[in-house]
Amino acid sequence: MKDPIKGFSKLSKAAKLEWLVTNNFEDADAARSVLTGYWHDDETLQKRHDEFIENTMSNYYMPYGVAPNFQINGKLYTIPMAIEESSVVAAAAKSASFWMERGGFKAEVMGTQKIGHVHFMYTGDASALKDEFDVLEEDLRAATAELTSNMEARGGGITSIKLVDATDRLDDYYQLEVTFETCDSMGANFINSNLEEMAKCLQTFAQNHERLDANALEVVMRILSNYTPNCLVRASVSCKIEELASEGVSAEEFARKFKRAIAIANAEPYRATTHNKGIMNGIDAVIIATGNDFRAVEAACHTHAARSGSYKSLTGCAVENGIFTFWIEIPLALGVVGGLTKLHPLVVKSLEMLGNPDAEELMGIVAVSGLAQNFAALRALVTTGIQKGHMKMHLMNILTQLEATPEEKIHIATYFKDKVPHHREVVNYFCELRGVPVPKVGQ
Ligand code: MEV
Repeated sequence: MKDPIKGFSKLSKAAKLEWLVTNNFEDADAARSVLTGYWHDDETLQKRHDEFIENTMSNYYMPYGVAPNFQINGKLYTIPMAIEESSVVAAAAKSASFWMERGGFKAEVMGTQKIGHVHFMYTGDASALKDEFDVLEEDLRAATAELTSNMEARGGGITSIKLVDATDRLDDYYQLEVTFETCDSMGANFINSNLEEMAKCLQTFAQNHERLDANALEVVMRILSNYTPNCLVRASVSCKIEELASEGVSAEEFARKFKRAIAIANAEPYRATTHNKGIMNGIDAVIIATGNDFRAVEAACHTHAARSGSYKSLTGCAVENGIFTFWIEIPLALGVVGGLTKLHPLVVKSLEMLGNPDAEELMGIVAVSGLAQNFAALRALVTTGIQKGHMKMHLMNILTQLEATPEEKIHIATYFKDKVPHHREVVNYFCELRGVPVPKVGQ
């Protein structure tokens, strides 16, 4: 059992590292060497990364790849993707080329509204609360005028304030439901600051109004919602069915099976979860590369997938009058200003690579990345299966673990070209090639 440490956050980085390696690892030198091995040589740059979070000890590298040839609304993009999973970038690039030859992707932003709540309990006379709401709204707007003035100058601000009676869901539960336009920022700080100001104003209002009972009012929380159903983007592709012939499968059979694959995801949450996970492979990778909050996007997309009451596919497909159409419609609250966007040098380069899009254009790019990923996954699943594409990377990962030389890698890759590279068989073949004994299972 380890001893707890007090005041860890107040220690210097060096002192934290010493405590960490001496108290949490068997070999402190080895741990220190790995952790410091990922420090950046440029101290200013390292300091910048240190300051993104608290108690930073090292940098966690993630591969940063690119998928070229994405034609979206007639414009060509190279999309940056930060992801550790092999085959995702290759799948994106393959889908991009496939659809570039068939007219490219279309993307359309349906809305950009964000939302947040002051969650409060009121045990007094609710009709008084409702009657007084117009006056309260004026006070709430006045209380937040200073906070919203810059955003208003950019074309955003608070778009609506509603009093919601939620007592049918929870006794005494009410909300101030506030909607916002946050222009090119994701807007979390802006929204939360406004909500905190509104909560104070609500309490003061209750104290100053005779018909309201301030003692019967309790503000519980004031926070944005990451579910943004009205911050929605749609991306789609379409082509004539005959343009779909794929991997030895006729165009008609491909279209039929593809549509069924989505019907299965809509009917079966076990499949929908994996189906949507594949979509998030494409979405998260771009979200991370562009410095956005992938946890927020994940949460919003999964709530959206469950909006009917059961968890379903985020993508849809129609085959009508000889035309195959495939689309995605998802909530994406993204920013191209604020947060990491100007601080992380790779994020700056990602946005530059995309032509410095505004938030709406970025929503389209991210949605397309998710759609492309789902197309690649379903295309493989209804034809050859996904293992064929994964196996080459899988083989290379095994060979890297075995510390194979580049020559050995080429030789072994050639041998396994038309075989499934099961781990044991790769190890056996590698040992035979090197002339070393095969390790026993478990070694
Ligand atoms: C793997 O990361 C993603 C897939 O499983 C998605 C899917 O099955 O649709 C290939």
